[in-house]
Amino acid sequence: MTKNIIVTGGAGYIGSHTVVELVESGFNPIIIDNFSNSNPKIIARIEKICKQKIKIYNLNCVDEKKLITNIPWNEVDGVIHFAAYKSVADSFKKKQEYFLNNIESTKILLNIIKKFNVNSFVFSSSCTVYGNPDQLPVTEKTKTKTPSSPYGETKKICEELIQSSEITNYTILRYFNPIGAHESSLIGEESKNTPNNLVPLICECAIGKRKNLTIYGNDYSTKDGTCIRDYIHVCDVAKAHVHALKNMMNCNLNHKTLNIGLSKGISVLELITLFEQNNNVNINYDFGKRREGDIEKIYADCSLAKKELKWKPKKTITDALIDAWNWEKEKNLLI
Ligand SMILES: NC(=O)c1ccc[n+]([C@@H]2O[C@H](COP(=O)([O-])OP(=O)(O)OC[C@H]3O[C@@H](n4cnc5c(N)ncnc54)[C@H](O)[C@@H]3O)[C@@H](O)[C@H]2O)c1
Repeated sequence: MTKNIIVTGGAGYIGSHTVVELVESGFNPIIIDNFSNSNPKIIARIEKICKQKIKIYNLNCVDEKKLITNIPWNEVDGVIHFAAYKSVADSFKKKQEYFLNNIESTKILLNIIKKFNVNSFVFSSSCTVYGNPDQLPVTEKTKTKTPSSPYGETKKICEELIQSSEITNYTILRYFNPIGAHESSLIGEESKNTPNNLVPLICECAIGKRKNLTIYGNDYSTKDGTCIRDYIHVCDVAKAHVHALKNMMNCNLNHKTLNIGLSKGISVLELITLFEQNNNVNINYDFGKRREGDIEKIYADCSLAKKELKWKPKKTITDALIDAWNWEKEKNLLI
């Protein structure tokens, strides 16, 4: 029988790509989203890619009562919890809101999962839980540190809540830097607020929505002075969720925490150059001061995820940058 998977935040960037992957793998995704950072029009575009209707509940994940009364939890086989606020910079200004939305929603979902005996739970965590790591690449054994932002703190607290929750099966996925878009150019990163992530900012520069890109800091101790990150195509991140679910579905006790990245450290300047070369555009940039919450360099060792989930990234950074640019050009033409 087709398995029903609740996808909180399924109208968002990573959630929408995961909904598509779930359908392609024979699951029945059911979205819960309050569109606080997404556009309701994305549902029609997901349906266009999937060639089928997708059930969507416009609900807030911190409203336990409505979640319980509206969703047929007895028919749910798994939950993927993406819904959260995600801007590192914003989280300094809105710490309380971040704590309420990100932590409370996780607490509520854990209660529901326990109450209704839902088999599998996948949680969106982040490399921010490693703080400024002492060793690179980071493995899951690398000591987590005090995160450098309230956003990172929420992810660390949620991980601890899940680890002490006594739910049967969970997989915590610590994403590094998802970039790119679906090859159809029907879905991609589309925050309601000004983007904070690098690739959407590069795209806005390339298309002329902003005059130039400010790179925060060129005095880091890296090869060109700019920060180093591990960028991975969003579709590969999405696929990792499907692998995680399949891995848990037949288990009685399966608790995993896994890094999800491409395992390559790329500097901000290198990423911009790759974008320019592969998309044949010029990006105007200048250098600003270091940004609060940014760490110097981080990239992942993902061998555990590859071994445990029988997953590996299939797309390159170049694929991701081309898809991101195609999405930027198409998205304003979409209805
Ligand atoms: N994008 C990244 O670079 C990145 C990196 C590491 C971890 N993550 C985590 O992955 C998850 C998904 O990230 P994303 O980039 O897709 O973000 P996103 O903002 O695009 O998607 C999140 C979705 O959740 C919804 N949402 C937020 N709070 C909600 C609530 N209380 N109730 C219902 N819906 C709610 C938003 O409307 C949005 O559609 C988040 O938990 C984020 O912290 C993202």
